[in-house]
Amino acid sequence: MVSVDKKKRMKIFKELENFQQRDFCFSSGHILGSMCAQPHPIAREAYIQFLETNLGDPELCPGTKEIESRFIAFISKLLHAPKTSVGQIVSGGTEGNITAMWIAKQLSGKKEVILPESAHFSFQKIASLMNMKLIQVPLTNEYIMDITEMKKKIHKGIAAVIGIAGSTELGTIDPIPELSDICSDEHIFLHVDAAFGGFVIPFLKDLHYKVPEFDFTLKGVSTISIDSHKMGYSAIPLGTLMIRQKHWLESISVESPYISSEKQAGILGTRSGAPVAAAYAVAQYLGFEGYKKMVKSCMDVTSYTEKRLKELELSLVMKPTMNVLGVKLKKPGQIVKKLSEQGWRVNKVERLSCIRLVLMPQITKQIIDEFIPVLQKICEEVGEL
Ligand SMILES: Cc1ncc(COP(=O)(O)O)c(C=O)c1O
Repeated sequence: MVSVDKKKRMKIFKELENFQQRDFCFSSGHILGSMCAQPHPIAREAYIQFLETNLGDPELCPGTKEIESRFIAFISKLLHAPKTSVGQIVSGGTEGNITAMWIAKQLSGKKEVILPESAHFSFQKIASLMNMKLIQVPLTNEYIMDITEMKKKIHKGIAAVIGIAGSTELGTIDPIPELSDICSDEHIFLHVDAAFGGFVIPFLKDLHYKVPEFDFTLKGVSTISIDSHKMGYSAIPLGTLMIRQKHWLESISVESPYISSEKQAGILGTRSGAPVAAAYAVAQYLGFEGYKKMVKSCMDVTSYTEKRLKELELSLVMKPTMNVLGVKLKKPGQIVKKLSEQGWRVNKVERLSCIRLVLMPQITKQIIDEFIPVLQKICEEVGEL
């Protein structure tokens, strides 16, 4: 064990603390615009315990590797993945999407991707990184992919179609069952980006909300990405890409001399086991019942926020599908700036002329009661009300 010089340590941590004080923190309750969760206390504990592990060299840490397998089994059950499937741990939604498109490109030898206008900007990175062409499909009045328009875009050069299950801007769910039928008939790879919605939709269904199917029960679904550092209530960075056929992983594997495994699939080499242990610990702690309660509570807070906004006579872009609200404003940029000056973080969505509120598990009705008068005052100042 390396000994630590107490004086030096104090000086460094003082400096770190000074920087940290400039950050917004989840515990303040004032972050209303992030899709990341304040990690569950169980996640925190497990994260620290597994800090030195490296899943890029699995024989070094067979125990952590087993945790990873068990966590993937949990995700597999949640998403009704078939026995033929495999899970690939990734750092989050961006890497999940990149990995899925890498597989689609390798399997098809094609380069064009059909996706809704609401797709996350990570697909722009994919286009640039992998020299793929994005073909955007307009949205319907419900802000989901327009299937009639989508069908017109299909041709022989299509590598993949993307459906979003919990969009970044509004939390909407594309018509995945229809996309599944089309892709299955046309033999096109269908990737479902459920980075945000993957830990929400299964429980909304249990709670009797009307939401479309989005998982592997649909035979045309090829891959699904789902993030634990979002509604999985765990720590950054962790997502999972579930892949319908294990052998597809071969297409993104290389030989890996010098380390304990013969081959390595995916983008990263060295990668920490800490976020995997954290996500597994939370999954074990909460179980499906715990996640259902969490989603119910987020939806209760969402309805409450909706009610409070209506009292101010502010309107929503649409009735929320999940715990994401778009509040229509004439000057969203100005409102976001003023809220930030008052210590509240929300996001602006210029494209829809709105601000986005994400009601994550740490957000309570009391926090909303604190937020609403601040928003009201700012809206009055800038002439929104
Ligand atoms: C639907 C969706 N996909 C992908 C991403 C990218 O995830 P990450 O920032 O974890 O890479 C996000 C981020 O908010 C998202 O909402």
